[in-house]
Amino acid sequence: MKKISAMVIGCGDRATVYANEGCRNLDMMRIGACVDPDVSKLEFMKAQFGVPAENCFTSVEQALSRGRMCDCIINGTMDKLHVPTTLPFLEQGYDVLLEKPVCNNEKELLELRDAAQRNNCRIFVCHVLRYSPFYRKIKELILSGEIGTVRHIATYEHVGVFLTSVSFVRGKWRSERECGSSLLLAKCSHDMDMICWLNNGTLPDTVFSAGGRDFITPENAPEGAGTRCLVDCPQSVREKCFFDAKPMYLDNCLLPWYPWQCTGKDYREITDAEKEESLKTYNPHGECAYKAGGDIVDHQTVNVRFKNGSYASHTVTLGSFRDGRDIFVAGTLGEIDGRADEGRITVRHYDRSTSWYNGRVIDVNDDAESAGAHYGGDRGLVRDFVNTVAGGELSISATTIDDSVNGQLLVFRADESMKKGVPVKF
Ligand SMILES: NC(=O)c1ccc[n+]([C@@H]2O[C@H](COP(=O)([O-])OP(=O)(O)OC[C@H]3O[C@@H](n4cnc5c(N)ncnc54)[C@H](O)[C@@H]3O)[C@@H](O)[C@H]2O)c1
Repeated sequence: MKKISAMVIGCGDRATVYANEGCRNLDMMRIGACVDPDVSKLEFMKAQFGVPAENCFTSVEQALSRGRMCDCIINGTMDKLHVPTTLPFLEQGYDVLLEKPVCNNEKELLELRDAAQRNNCRIFVCHVLRYSPFYRKIKELILSGEIGTVRHIATYEHVGVFLTSVSFVRGKWRSERECGSSLLLAKCSHDMDMICWLNNGTLPDTVFSAGGRDFITPENAPEGAGTRCLVDCPQSVREKCFFDAKPMYLDNCLLPWYPWQCTGKDYREITDAEKEESLKTYNPHGECAYKAGGDIVDHQTVNVRFKNGSYASHTVTLGSFRDGRDIFVAGTLGEIDGRADEGRITVRHYDRSTSWYNGRVIDVNDDAESAGAHYGGDRGLVRDFVNTVAGGELSISATTIDDSVNGQLLVFRADESMKKGVPVKF
């Protein structure tokens, strides 16, 4: 198969993950051009992916002025930039791999959908979980009719202590005011999307949601806590605090590309002394987690009624100990139960002979791909996107943009419901 060429817009963490999957792991793509106002990112793209210097741009306008240069776009900019940096490329006829959340508001969401339809372009939103072997198998089981008609989908997202800190308490998604995304939009747009995708024979009808910032608050800081772990927080307090910056960031930093972004240096090059100095002075990851000033909720539940009388519920809690996702699908003839991080799905049916049930376990860990990030979803998404750009059919994971917007609309309605304290019509 001929490799497709992609232009990367926003050459940060996520976009380079997709570029790496497409170019190296799948060997189906080459990066023909890239855009980023940060010239160090452009240098990185030249060195890592062989992007020609004349095709490296510091603004979208420069890239647009050259006309159509590649087969598709990979857009990995931050949330607020997704739509403005995608719309003009749709007018040039590009298919787009677009990071989630699509955008922060309904107006832009529908604008993007309409532009994609008008220009006959495909937009693959990076709801990567849909493309993982685990969730793909669940979709296949539902489509096979084995559990009958879906009655209820229950999902639970446990956001582990490290991820909570690095992204949602001290990190760049800690403030809806600053980043434009609520917790549900930034973290659970995946889950809202999945609920709609698994049940896409119908549409949401009404949503009710409740949640708040109730646990990770200044009032709940350990007694005697300071304002910066390495500066004014006593050792005796830090020893008992889950969020102590030293073990979390200096000793075992699980996602090292996040906490050092504010230093302006590549995380592979920054020294230990520079890391420590930043935590002591300006780095938000050095602040007391309880007092870091974030404004997103730290737990939320969402209940959805669908037009056909089926239901779904989703719960997210920040600061969990196990990081991962659970799902339970109740059908009229059977049920599906699984933990994505364990890669095992149980399918159960009622057993008349024992008045109990029989079940079988499907181990998707057998699928080599499930070892990759997002349970294998990153690679699965890039493969499906490339196949589609190259003229192939949509896989069961992919849907057209008018279907993909439903999960995101559900996020907006759920957040509206939580803020007003009343059910909201879809
Ligand atoms: N699919 C997932 O599961 C998943 C996981 C994490 C993050 N995300 C989403 O991915 C997106 C990117 O997150 P990230 O952590 O990779 O961000 P990042 O900060 O690492 O990358 C963003 C890049 O965009 C560049 N940029 C800024 N302004 C620009 C402009 N006008 N034009 C072009 N480029 C510009 C920045 O210089 C930076 O290199 C976010 O929307 C985030 O919510 C998705």
